Amino acid sequence: MNDRAVPYPMVTGRGVLARAQTHIGAIDAVHRIGIVTDNVVGPLHLATLRAGLGRDAEVITIESGEQSKTRETWAQITDTLQTAGFGRDSLLIALGGGVIGDLTGFVAATYQRGIPFVQAPTTLLAMVDAAIGGKTGVDTPLGKNLVGAFHEPLAVLSDLDTLGTLPGIERRNGLAEAIKHGVIADAAYFASVSDLLPWPSDTAGLESLVRGSVAIKTQVVARDLREQGLRKTLNFGHTIGHAIEHLLGYAEPHGACVAIGMVVEAHIAAGLGIADTALVAQLGDAVRRAGLPDRVPPALSADAILSATATDKKARAGVVEYTLPTAIGTMSGAERGFGTPVPADVVRAAISATR
Ligand SMILES: NC(=O)c1ccc[n+]([C@@H]2O[C@H](COP(=O)([O-])OP(=O)(O)OC[C@H]3O[C@@H](n4cnc5c(N)ncnc54)[C@H](O)[C@@H]3O)[C@@H](O)[C@H]2O)c1
Ligand SMILES: [Zn+2]
Repeated sequence: MNDRAVPYPMVTGRGVLARAQTHIGAIDAVHRIGIVTDNVVGPLHLATLRAGLGRDAEVITIESGEQSKTRETWAQITDTLQTAGFGRDSLLIALGGGVIGDLTGFVAATYQRGIPFVQAPTTLLAMVDAAIGGKTGVDTPLGKNLVGAFHEPLAVLSDLDTLGTLPGIERRNGLAEAIKHGVIADAAYFASVSDLLPWPSDTAGLESLVRGSVAIKTQVVARDLREQGLRKTLNFGHTIGHAIEHLLGYAEPHGACVAIGMVVEAHIAAGLGIADTALVAQLGDAVRRAGLPDRVPPALSADAILSATATDKKARAGVVEYTLPTAIGTMSGAERGFGTPVPADVVRAAISATR
């Protein structure tokens, strides 16, 4: 089945990799295919994709994890492609989580000034978030995603079968973003996700979870391709979440930090009188049902969190702007590009309320 808010196929379902060839429209015009995957995903799902392509493909396997999302790995992959004689009529397929998608997309964006690529996300987070929106890139020693490019894939093939092997911690990373999608855009979707927690018990539930989130993110991105306004709503929970993630030295999963961030930011919205406390309660309930944390770690002081938010790239001229909900499904401040400057004492109070 296809979602058509974007000009390329987004296929979500079971057995999608096994029929990969039929889903990649331009595949006959492609001279060479390179599959980029990691050493965890490869042994689990590569054989299915290769069989589904029905033709030869070069496989490039990198080490799993964020530490591989670097310019060094980008160089290794581009060198491998050059040595193997890949030309402009080549296609790359990213088989893996967001690390593989971002990295492969950036290779595709830059190799010979740009070649097509296909996203085959295998984590819930990549299906509902990383594979959508055309952002690609790598990390540098100074921070995450600091070098990159916009490069849209030829297709996104989300095979729900791959989620069967996904560890709980990675499931929760994706669930945090799905909950976020409900908060920022769709109360009905939020309610249906809440009902599916801690994890959908059948294919229909899993499919509605992924498709609902994909629909929300594609619509937000389609209406705001270059982050002029609406796309900022996707940052809900991430101003505080990124600060916590950074202060903890990336020792806690992204989804856990975002979950705490969403709860704190809901308290901020309530503290400013933008949202009522029902929002805080509903969100906290969903977060806990997903098995995600809803408390700021005691080791992190409010001062440390506040100064970490000030260095976030979303801060403008020293004033930290938040994107805040008025209720589940509705964001405030559309007239100001969805950014709300928040005084430090309101942030402090929200952090105290979330200890
Ligand atoms: N481009 C964007 O718009 C965007 C948006 C959000 C996140 N991201 C990026 O995505 C990355 C995070 O993505 P992620 O959470 O998918 O991380 P990931 O790619 O590191 O995958 C998480 C772990 O799960 C393993 N894995 C993947 N699929 C599996 C499967 N089906 N079964 C078992 N194990 C599997 C991986 O080997 C890895 O160890 C970050 O680098 C982040 O910056 C990008
Ligand atoms: Zn996120």
